[in-house]
Amino acid sequence: MVHKSLINRALLLLSFLALQFSAFAQSEAAVNAGKVLFKTNCAQCHNRNMKDDLTGPALGGVEERWADYDQADLYSWIRNSQALVQAGHPRATEVFNQWNKVVMQPFPNLTDEDINNLMVYINCQYAGNCPGAQIAGTPGNLNNGTPEEGSNTGLFIILAVILGILAVVLARIASNLNYMLKVQAGETGMVRRSLVDILTSKSVIGFLVFALVVLGGYTTVNNAISMGRQQGYQPEQPIKFSHATHAGAQKIDCQYCHDGARRSKHSVIPAANTCMNCHKAVKVGSTYGTAELTKIYASVGYDPSTDTYIEDIENKSTEDLKAIYSKWIQNEYMKEDDAKVNKVDKIVDTQWDAIVASLTDEAMGDESVYGPINWVRIHNLPDHAYFNHAQHVSIGKVECQQCHGKVEEMELVGQVAPLSMGWCINCHRQTEVKFTGNEYYKSYSRYVEELESGVREKVTVEDIGGLECQKCHY
Ligand code: HEC
Ligand code: HEC
Ligand code: HEC
Ligand code: HEC
Ligand code: HEC
Ligand code: HEC
Repeated sequence: MVHKSLINRALLLLSFLALQFSAFAQSEAAVNAGKVLFKTNCAQCHNRNMKDDLTGPALGGVEERWADYDQADLYSWIRNSQALVQAGHPRATEVFNQWNKVVMQPFPNLTDEDINNLMVYINCQYAGNCPGAQIAGTPGNLNNGTPEEGSNTGLFIILAVILGILAVVLARIASNLNYMLKVQAGETGMVRRSLVDILTSKSVIGFLVFALVVLGGYTTVNNAISMGRQQGYQPEQPIKFSHATHAGAQKIDCQYCHDGARRSKHSVIPAANTCMNCHKAVKVGSTYGTAELTKIYASVGYDPSTDTYIEDIENKSTEDLKAIYSKWIQNEYMKEDDAKVNKVDKIVDTQWDAIVASLTDEAMGDESVYGPINWVRIHNLPDHAYFNHAQHVSIGKVECQQCHGKVEEMELVGQVAPLSMGWCINCHRQTEVKFTGNEYYKSYSRYVEELESGVREKVTVEDIGGLECQKCHY
């Protein structure tokens, strides 16, 4: 019965692979559909990196913001937001007021499936792991690639089929030769093996299983890599922003900029407006002069020569903007020594070219320097894993540095931790839960009593369920 169990195993593997494959293909189709819908309907007001605000809010994490209500409510909002506002829906009213009552146009023709696809696209774009996306962050490229690159999967399947046929033909020839040899040697009473016999023979099935395992391993590894889980990944950023300067020398609190860490799943990269809180005043840097800080101004449309936001910026051409910022850069250098004054035109041109290169991204359809800064995303868990910053930072009281290393010493941030499942689990096994004075743990009174009476030495995250699969997997 060796054959049967082998066949069963092979079939199981095959169906597993097919499942993986179809799920992948399905989600890729949904992403592509969502992408087109987004581009044609939403992109003029909602940033396609899903992280920064534009005319409307960043849509990343929007499902969480509507999590207290029926999913249907969010869908109604997208079809006709004003109807929901008029009906007094709490979330609708809140977001409408927050956005100074700017009216989002209605989309009555979108079907549920359309909106599903939009959500799939919004979520994966936000997480930076849309299928088919490029390996996160070739320098200068944005946090998330566009899912337009072709894949080699088709080619692999064709190759596999050809190899399979070849294997069968060879096996058949070998068996025929064998048979003839034996006939020549005068043996009698043998049966010539049929094709079915060969196909179900141990070696063929063994080979098939082996091939499937290799193929499976290959796709898994490939997917894992493309998900961007890369320890040590340290991409160049569009602006030479230094954590060593800001969090180190200037001692700015991490949460001043990453204020999401305390209260939500995501830490969130600060919007350029946060930078403006200080850089309206600090306009020329000691390291790069005007070169880097002007990028912030160009991205928010601020004219540092007059200290005003440029009016009607949406209708300004690149040439108009270049004139404004050239004037600023030029004036700064005219104050300097003669040697620089002579070269000022060249300095201005070089700086402007660098600003354009850093702030625009043709691949993403972002052609204007005005608009959000395309920071390259570094940390990125796969979709099936759930991680929540607030849980760790506010409740668990875990320091940022335990997971991200000494960021305050980094000129350029890189990924310090492996972000693997083993890494999460190890810490949950070892880390003691900080019970004292923490409201959140009221329900664990038994543990608290045991601790106080000395029956129990410590309570780890594992003890409160931190190793249960469903806590980390959807
Ligand atoms: C004309 C600009 C505009 C377009 C086009 C637009 N939106 Fe909006 N959207 C807004 C504004 C502005 C808000 C903030 C609420 C308000 O002021 O009405 C918003 C809010 C939202 C919200 C609620 C966000 C939250 O945090 O609760 C969702 C969801 C949303 N839009 C989805 C979409 C989708 C999906 C599309 C495309 C089908 C789209 N929007 C097209 C301007 C727009
Ligand atoms: C002045 C604002 C500011 C402060 C203060 C700040 N950060 Fe950041 N942080 C940023 C910006 C902007 C980025 C995106 C650019 C980059 O990666 O350098 C970022 C990126 C990061 C990233 C990488 C995010 C990713 O893409 O995966 C981590 C981790 C991080 N910060 C942690 C910290 C920690 C920890 C502190 C405190 C020690 C801190 N930050 C203080 C602005 C700030
Ligand atoms: C709380 C105040 C504060 C905030 C917020 C802040 N910065 Fe700074 N930044 C500073 C100070 C102070 C310096 C040091 C200036 C110097 O070196 O002359 C600096 C320096 C810099 C420099 C180096 C300039 C040079 O040429 O030396 C860059 C680039 C920069 N900041 C970018 C940013 C960006 C991008 C943000 C937003 C994500 C930001 N900063 C937010 C205070 C701030
Ligand atoms: C227990 C480990 C842990 C701690 C503590 C932690 N982080 Fe993270 N951080 C992560 C992981 C894991 C990710 C990737 C999340 C993802 O891809 O969904 C991440 C991602 C980020 C990002 C990228 C944007 C995002 O939210 O996905 C920033 C910025 C960041 N962390 C900043 C911080 C800051 C600031 C602190 C401290 C206030 C902090 N982190 C504390 C593990 C941690
Ligand atoms: C540096 C240590 C550390 C690392 C690394 C870490 N965690 Fe945690 N985690 C904690 C602590 C401490 C708590 C307890 C906070 C609490 O009580 O909710 C916790 C709690 C949790 C919880 C809630 C558990 C519960 O029973 O309510 C989840 C889910 C979780 N972590 C997921 C993750 C994931 C996913 C990763 C890896 C990407 C990770 N953690 C990495 C320390 C860590
Ligand atoms: C503390 C959080 C945590 C717990 C508990 C946890 N996982 Fe995971 N798991 C993760 C993270 C994070 C990843 C993604 C790591 C990566 O990218 O390789 C992951 C990945 C996986 C994967 C995919 C492996 C891959 O190569 O992508 C499987 C399968 C899995 N977990 C199964 C389980 C099972 C079964 C359990 C329960 C016994 C479990 N996990 C419990 C955090 C957790």
